[in-house]
Amino acid sequence: MTDTRPLRVAIVGAGPAGIYAADALMKSDTLNAGRGVSIDLFERMPAPFGLIRYGVAPDHPRIKGIITALHKVLDKSQVRLIGNVDYGTDVTLEDLKARYDGIIFSTGATDDRVMEIPGIDLKRSYGAAQFVAWYDGHPDFSRTWPLEEEKVAVIGVGNVALDVARVLAKTGDELLPTEIPANVYEGLKANKALEVHVFGRRGPAQAKFTPLELKELDHSPNIEVVVAPEDIEYDEGSAVARRTSKITDQVATIIENYAIREDPKAGAIHKLFLHFFESPVEILGENSEVVGLRTERTELDGTGNVKGTGKFTDWDVTAVYRAVGYLSDNLPEIPFDDQAGVIPNEAGRVFDNGEHQRGLYTTGWIKRGPVGLIGHTKGDANETIECLVEDMVNGALLDPAEPHEDSIITLLESKNHPFTTWDGWYRLDEHERSLGAAEGRERIKVVERHDMLAASEPDKI
Ligand SMILES: Cc1cc2nc3c(=O)[nH]c(=O)nc-3n(C[C@H](O)[C@H](O)[C@H](O)COP(=O)(O)OP(=O)(O)OC[C@H]3O[C@@H](n4cnc5c(N)ncnc54)[C@H](O)[C@@H]3O)c2cc1C
Ligand SMILES: NC(=O)c1ccc[n+]([C@@H]2O[C@H](COP(=O)([O-])OP(=O)(O)OC[C@H]3O[C@@H](n4cnc5c(N)ncnc54)[C@H](OP(=O)(O)O)[C@@H]3O)[C@@H](O)[C@H]2O)c1
Repeated sequence: MTDTRPLRVAIVGAGPAGIYAADALMKSDTLNAGRGVSIDLFERMPAPFGLIRYGVAPDHPRIKGIITALHKVLDKSQVRLIGNVDYGTDVTLEDLKARYDGIIFSTGATDDRVMEIPGIDLKRSYGAAQFVAWYDGHPDFSRTWPLEEEKVAVIGVGNVALDVARVLAKTGDELLPTEIPANVYEGLKANKALEVHVFGRRGPAQAKFTPLELKELDHSPNIEVVVAPEDIEYDEGSAVARRTSKITDQVATIIENYAIREDPKAGAIHKLFLHFFESPVEILGENSEVVGLRTERTELDGTGNVKGTGKFTDWDVTAVYRAVGYLSDNLPEIPFDDQAGVIPNEAGRVFDNGEHQRGLYTTGWIKRGPVGLIGHTKGDANETIECLVEDMVNGALLDPAEPHEDSIITLLESKNHPFTTWDGWYRLDEHERSLGAAEGRERIKVVERHDMLAASEPDKI
C-alpha cells in the first residue's frame, strides 16, 4: 500500500545542505523509476538559504549568487518550502514521524565554538558569529554594534577571521553598494578601527585561509596588509603540507608576498596585520572591559604543530573578535555528540548507542562539523540520500500514519502558526530588490522577522 504513493521526506534546515539533499532525492534514479518523491523543507527562518544569506559576507555577491542556482531546486513541484517553522518548537519529532517516511536533519551551525581562555566574558570580547549575524542582518541578533575602538584583534586565521577583519577594515561607504541594511551601514560608517590585528597560533603554512579571499584583502584601497618577515617560518611538516596541497602553497606564497612588500600602500587608512606564531592566552581586562590581548610566542615542532616558547606579548587592543570556528546546536530528541558538535551518524544515517535510528538521517555541517565550503555540502547530501534510498528499497524507513501532504499544513494551521512558502520567498526577494532599486543598489536586506513575514505574504507588500 505505502509504495503506491510518493515517498514523503521531511528535511529540517533549508541551508545549502538541505537544498542539495532535496535535489539528490529528486534526481534519484530509483525513486524516479518507482514511486517518486514529495519533500517538505522546514526552515526556522522566514527565508531559506542558511549561511548563504546569514553567513557569507555582504561584499561577496558572487557567492551569494549561488542562491540563484539553488532556485532551480526549489522551483520543482516535488518540493515545498515551509519557512518560519522551528523544529523542536513549532514541530516535534513525533509530528514528523507521523507524517514522513524519512526525516533528514541539516540544521548547520549558528554559534561560536567556545574558547577557553581567561577574559572571554569581558565587555567587547565578541564571538565572530554574533558580529557576522549583525552585519548580515539576522533578525534574531543585535541591531546595533559598537564600533568605537581604534585597535581591535581577531583570533583565528580561517576564512571567517578574514571576513570579520575585512569588514572591520573596510569603510562603511565601501560596503554601501552591497545588500547591507541601513542599521548596518550606519554602524560601519561610525567604525573607528584603524588597526585590525589578526592572530594565528601556528604559521603561514597552517593558515586555513583560501587564496582568493586572502588576495582580496589587498583589493580594498583602504586596507594595507602587513606581515612581519619574522613570522615567515616553515618546518618539515610545513614543507610537506605545501608540497601536497596547492592551496596551502598558494596561501603561504601570498603571505610571503605581503611580508616582503616594502613601501606602504598609498592612501590606505586602515592597517590589517596578519600575525603568526602568536597563541592567545588571555584577554586582558580592566573594569570588566577589554584593554588588551596577551599572546605567547610559539615555534614549530617539526610536524607543523607548535609549542609555546614562554615569551609573552601584550597587545593594546580594546576589542577582541574570536573567529575560532562555529558550533552546531543539539536538537530536541535527536542524539548529539557534544564533543564533536555533530549528530552521530554513519554516512548520514543517524546513530544512537551504535544503532541506526530508523528513518532518521543527517547532512551538511551538523553531520560532519562546521568546516567546508558550500559546494562540499553537495557531496554530503548525495551520500546521505544514497543511504535513505537504500533503506527504502530494504523496507527500513518509517511507516507514517498520516502521509498525506495536507496533514502538516493542517497541523500548523491548527496551531495558528504563520509559515512562509517558496512563493513567499519570491515576494520577499522582489521586495528586497525593489528597496535596493530605489537607492541604485541590487538589493537591501529586510531584517525584522515580522517585516520578512509581511513581505512574504501576497497581499501585504
Ligand atoms: C561566516 C561564514 C561565511 C561563509 N562564507 C562562505 C563563502 O563565502 N563561500 C563558501 O563556499 N562557504 C562559505 N561558508 C561556509 C558555508 O556557509 C557552509 O559550508 C554551509 O552553509 C553549510 O551548509 P548547511 O546547510 O550545513 O548549514 P547552514 O547554512 O547553517 O544551514 C542550516 C539551516 O538550518 C536552519 N535551522 C537550524 N536549526 C533549525 C531548526 N531547529 N528548525 C528549522 N531550521 C533550522 C538554519 O536556519 C539554516 O537555514 C561560510 C561560513 C560562515 C560561518
Ligand atoms: N569566503 C569563503 O570561502 C569562506 C568564508 C567564511 C568561511 N568559509 C568556510 O567556512 C568554514 C569555517 O571557517 P572558520 O574560519 O570558522 O573555521 P576554520 O577554517 O576551522 O578556522 C578556524 C581558525 O581558528 C583557529 N583556532 C581554533 N581554536 C583556536 C584557539 N584556541 N586559539 C587560537 N586559534 C584557534 C584555528 O587555528 P588552528 O588551525 O591552529 O586550529 C583556525 O586558524 C571553513 O571551511 C571556511 O573555509 C569560507
